[in-house]
Amino acid sequence: MISFVWAEDKNHIIGEKGHLPWSLPNDLHHFKDVTVNHPIVMGRKTFESFPNGPLPKRLNIVISKNPDYQVPDSVILINDKADLKKYIQPDDEVMVIGGSGIFKLFQDDVDRLYLTKIDHEFTGDTKMCSIDYSKFKLVEKKEGQMDDKNIYPYTFETWDKL
Ligand SMILES: NC(=O)c1ccc[n+]([C@@H]2O[C@H](COP(=O)([O-])OP(=O)(O)OC[C@H]3O[C@@H](n4cnc5c(N)ncnc54)[C@H](OP(=O)(O)O)[C@@H]3O)[C@@H](O)[C@H]2O)c1
Repeated sequence: MISFVWAEDKNHIIGEKGHLPWSLPNDLHHFKDVTVNHPIVMGRKTFESFPNGPLPKRLNIVISKNPDYQVPDSVILINDKADLKKYIQPDDEVMVIGGSGIFKLFQDDVDRLYLTKIDHEFTGDTKMCSIDYSKFKLVEKKEGQMDDKNIYPYTFETWDKL
C-alpha cells in the first residue's frame, strides 16, 4: 500500500527555499515513528534537504529525471514511478514523503494519509497537492504537545481511503 506522510501549515505550505518552513521537533519524531522500517519515496530535492544524508533504518528511494544523479550505495535511484515495484515487496507500506510533485505523481495510488496540521501561517514556496478528503475517512486525530521547542499548535491526523 501507498501512504503519504507530510506536515502542512494552514495554507497547505510544506516547504520554503528547500527546507521546512518551521522547526517542530515533535513532528520529526512522529515522522520517524511512522516511517522507520518502511521504504520511503521522495523527490530529488527532498532528498537533498536532509542535513545528514539518507534516513537510517528505511530504504531510501529517490526519484529524479536524471539517470546520472549520484546517490550513496544504500539509496535507490529511480527515474520513473513504474520502476518502484522492482524495489518493494507486495506487503510493504510504502511511505511517499514528498515534495509536491511526488505527492501529485502518487495522488491516484494513495491509500493512507499521515498528516501533521500546523495551525499557523508560514511563508513558503512549496505547497501540498490537493487531496480529495471525501475519499478518505479520519481514523485517528491527536493534539500535539506544545513546549518551548514546539511553539506552534499542531495535530496529527491519519486518514484511510474509503
Ligand atoms: N512539510 C513536509 O512534509 C515536506 C515534505 C517533503 C518536502 N518538503 C519540502 O518541500 C521542498 C522540496 O519539494 P519540491 O516539491 O520542491 O521537490 P521534490 O518533489 O522533493 O523534488 C523534485 C524533483 O523530483 C524529481 N521528479 C519530480 N517528478 C518526477 C517524475 N515524474 N519523474 C522523475 N523525477 C521526478 C525531479 O528531480 P530532477 O530535477 O533531478 O529530475 C524534480 O526536480 C523542500 O522545501 C522540502 O523541505 C516538505
